[in-house]
Amino acid sequence: MCFGFSLFRLVRVGDGAYNTKGNQYVTKRIGVLTGGGDCPGLNAVIRAVVKSASVKYACEVIGIEDGFDGLVLPNKTRVLTLQDIRGILSIGGTILGTTNRSNPFEYKVTINGNSEVRDVSHEVIKNIQSLGLDALIVIGGDGSLNIAYELFKMGCPIVGVPKTIDNDILATDVTFGFNTAVQTATEALDRLHTTAESHHRVMVVEVMGRYVGWIALKTGVGGGADVILIPEIPFDMEKVCKKIDDRKSSGSRSSIVVVSEGAKPIGGDVSILHTAETGGSAERLGGIGNKVGANIKCSGMEVRVTVLGHLQRGGSPCAFDRILSTQFGVAAVDLTARKRFGEMVCLRGQKIEAVSLGDVAKGQKKVPTEEGLVKAAEAIGISFGR
Ligand code: F6P
Repeated sequence: MCFGFSLFRLVRVGDGAYNTKGNQYVTKRIGVLTGGGDCPGLNAVIRAVVKSASVKYACEVIGIEDGFDGLVLPNKTRVLTLQDIRGILSIGGTILGTTNRSNPFEYKVTINGNSEVRDVSHEVIKNIQSLGLDALIVIGGDGSLNIAYELFKMGCPIVGVPKTIDNDILATDVTFGFNTAVQTATEALDRLHTTAESHHRVMVVEVMGRYVGWIALKTGVGGGADVILIPEIPFDMEKVCKKIDDRKSSGSRSSIVVVSEGAKPIGGDVSILHTAETGGSAERLGGIGNKVGANIKCSGMEVRVTVLGHLQRGGSPCAFDRILSTQFGVAAVDLTARKRFGEMVCLRGQKIEAVSLGDVAKGQKKVPTEEGLVKAAEAIGISFGR
């Protein structure tokens, strides 16, 4: 379904604010939170939520700070006015703060100096009620959206908005933040090309993306890489070296290898910096860039490794992400007005649509390895180490 509508039918009864255009009762107070890792475009969604709630529905928005923490701990909510969101469209990060360590179903608490993990989901629900929220918009990645789905199943009036630089969320063609991250990483590749060429070096660049290779694939193609290693295609180091050797033999003075942080060799494991903790952080990936770099001994060329890290998450969103974030924010408010709880806004082709959070929770969106951009990349000689 498309959200091109201007009229909406509401079944809400009670003391909702009056919509002067439609003469219908509307949702009165919406909460909004940003959960999980930040990404460019979060502020643009918050801005669109506050603007459309105010302009279209005369509805108040309550900002909840630091993800689900704001619904567990006291004094972490505030009214968001039009004044509060002025000038934030182009600013990275999130004015509400976020955390990827606040799962209410596995919440870390310290009691008498001892750390315990508890299910505080019922307190979250009580707090949503005591704040008088008619709806809660959760802007998050797969972790936060899964939490949102569980809370929805317990009766919370929740709507989801997908965000992540990784682009791994099912049921949406793309998430905001992704294109900005690809642009940042592509610009980094442009810079590495010139120094690589000057010194006749192999440059290995590790990019983020968790267990999917979207950032590596698009950055590699956009930035003219010679080798791209992604989690979906376990690689053979000999093939990687052969590609670099072949390039050297044919007169190339340098090579660029883009490695996704979740890439792994055939028969090998993903490189982990930090294992997951119950009630704490998720598994942190990293280190594969250095491992690949250490194994490029074939060409006799010097190798240098760059880990782009959180540079990919920071900074101003590109125009595409600002626009998508704005559309998502507006569509999320429309969903709350229509009481379409348990759904997430998404992009399908050129249209903003909605899908069930249950469908989103089914897995991750992986890079297809036998079609599309992977095949196009192979057609121009890029190696995936297979
Ligand atoms: O999910 C976004 C992401 O940036 C991943 O690409 C990366 O693996 C992870 O978050 C890093 O998380 P943190 O900010 O906790 O180091």
